[in-house]
Amino acid sequence: MGEDVINQERRRFLTGATCVVGAAGVVGAAIPFVSSWNPSAKAKAAGAPVKVNIAKLEPGQIMTAEWRGKPVYVVRRTQESLDNLDKLEGDLRDPNSEASNQPEYVDKQNRASKPEVLVLVGLCTHLGCAPLYRPDVGAQDLGGDEWLGGFFCPCHGSKFDLAGRVYAGVPAPTNLDVPPYSYETESILVIGVDQEAA
Ligand code: FES
Repeated sequence: MGEDVINQERRRFLTGATCVVGAAGVVGAAIPFVSSWNPSAKAKAAGAPVKVNIAKLEPGQIMTAEWRGKPVYVVRRTQESLDNLDKLEGDLRDPNSEASNQPEYVDKQNRASKPEVLVLVGLCTHLGCAPLYRPDVGAQDLGGDEWLGGFFCPCHGSKFDLAGRVYAGVPAPTNLDVPPYSYETESILVIGVDQEAA
């Protein structure tokens, strides 16, 4: 066996060994994630409402709750992002939420009962991936100057604005769903209980 051949063999072995370590690392990292979702299994089964304290949620920030096994995004919108919603109507498939799933006490355009707090089911209406929060206005990968912030689904490229309204020409057929919700106090949001029944 020439020296070149030996070196190649060795390289192949090292590459294989690296892959094995990589796979073990992924499994190790996945365990804490799975166990952190387990404690809510009972709440999921019961479909119990979920209370979320939004007192520390700053303008522009997002937090994720879990309700009935689904992620629910809560975003405190800035005044600027609310003002931007009007500029997008021509780019959206359903700007007035005619064919979209949301409670009737939620505004059809800004899609919230308190405009500054957006509450959405965090599942793409195409095939159910979790859209990414992309509030970065002007993001080059999302259309540059045209992008005024919103959500981007990495699975097949659907885009939604900061009211969860779907852009025209993407795979997702409807706006992101808005779950039933109400406020117990100024800062305690109750997901799963309608405003009227609270
Ligand atoms: S699941 Fe979001 S675009 Fe397909």
